[in-house]
Amino acid sequence: MSNPDHPPAVGVLDQGPELTFPPGFLWGAATAAYQIEGAATEGGRSPSIWDTFSHTEGRVVAGHTGDVACDHYHRMPSDVRLMAELGLKSYRFSVSWPRVQPGGSGPANAEGLDFYRRLVDELLGHGIEPWLTLYHWDLPQPLEDAGGWPARDTAGRFADYTQLVADALGDRVTYWTTLNEPWCSAFLGYGSGVHAPGRSDGADAVRAGHHLMLGHGLAVQALRASRPQAQLGITVNLYPVTPASDAPADVDAARRIDALANRFFLDPVLRGSYPTDLAADLREVTDFGHVRDGDLAVISTPLDLVGVNYYSRHVVAAPVEGAEPEPYWRAPSCWPGSEDVRFVTRGVPVTDMDWEIDAPGLTETLRRVHEEYTDLPLYVTENGSAFVDAVVDGQVDDIDRLAYFDAHLRAAHEAINAGVPLRGYFAWSLMDNFEWAWGYTKRFGMVWIDYDSQARIPKSSARWYAEVIRRNGLAAQ
Ligand code: FCB
Repeated sequence: MSNPDHPPAVGVLDQGPELTFPPGFLWGAATAAYQIEGAATEGGRSPSIWDTFSHTEGRVVAGHTGDVACDHYHRMPSDVRLMAELGLKSYRFSVSWPRVQPGGSGPANAEGLDFYRRLVDELLGHGIEPWLTLYHWDLPQPLEDAGGWPARDTAGRFADYTQLVADALGDRVTYWTTLNEPWCSAFLGYGSGVHAPGRSDGADAVRAGHHLMLGHGLAVQALRASRPQAQLGITVNLYPVTPASDAPADVDAARRIDALANRFFLDPVLRGSYPTDLAADLREVTDFGHVRDGDLAVISTPLDLVGVNYYSRHVVAAPVEGAEPEPYWRAPSCWPGSEDVRFVTRGVPVTDMDWEIDAPGLTETLRRVHEEYTDLPLYVTENGSAFVDAVVDGQVDDIDRLAYFDAHLRAAHEAINAGVPLRGYFAWSLMDNFEWAWGYTKRFGMVWIDYDSQARIPKSSARWYAEVIRRNGLAAQ
């Protein structure tokens, strides 16, 4: 931006005292390949499950696809300049598997790798730390045709692909996360089917979750062997799960959803075991016969960091007669073995996704991971909100998003005060983008995208975030 000191329009907010973050705190913003790159058929890229899904009628709102998205593939150098103007210390992006290994097997595609090499060089040239996510949901279609994540072989394919990326970029990328949000890949992709590949089978969702984590473990081992200096982790989406009351049936509902949403991933990765109550809850769905001896040792291969994505809280209750139909992420098919649990709406303010705004939930989530699971450094690898924005006189004054960021950064700071080794924060998202099944109808960006002209307009939240980064903290209001 031309004038990072431009005062943001926050006059109506009263957000509390000045807060300073620890020295070296890694301030960043995040995106994902399919959500921003476009160029779906260029440079040797082959289709992924999201190309197939978005081109299938009725799957994505208004028939939107990622064919063009933000055209980042062609605009990458100027997008990196924009990041530099915001003062970002780090940029979290994902590598498109079908761009660097078309079809999901065989040798690397030099042209695909070259795009990421240029991106990384551009970032380093601007003093921005690259943060590479290996899998943000774009499984090459032939691997889905061969069984997808419910098939064990996909884990091995993921490790092979990881090796190709490690060989090409390992000399210049320090921070690596394997998977983004395996819960979504497994339970939205194979359970409820609202995400690609759009399959709906509880046992497949559970198997997919296991094989995703197996792929993670194998990928960590491959990276560790070839790049011993790299900082390795995984990104999980976590939610505090609160019972609607202290009635034992509500408390048990919360336990069940917590097992499926959080402990399904945290326990294998950080403790090397599945929670025993999870296996009991799922006994009608699967006997966990897909788990082989040695898998959990691979899955729990030691890491250097844990990435936490945080958006909202789940409040749940025991089933009642005649419960109302629920939004997609509350669909019973997302929660095998707990289909009858009822998600409760508290009536607190929500974002344009209908996700309740609950900043204290971030403190709670970070404290839980630290206090119950690990001393490893934690990073918030995504946090943000969709709101309906409008361009007025060439400006986008996204005061609700700005307030969301402010409240959550205060919550993150509180976690640090409580002893959590939180080392960085990545806003979701750098720019508006293809929001999966919602297409372009939901805007999460700090930078507005005009999808007709591809113009970028930094919103008020972007100017405010630049100031947060500059002072390494929040101003008193
Ligand atoms: C997360 C995804 C990210 C984005 C945000 C809003 O679940 O990782 O790609 O869609 O939600």
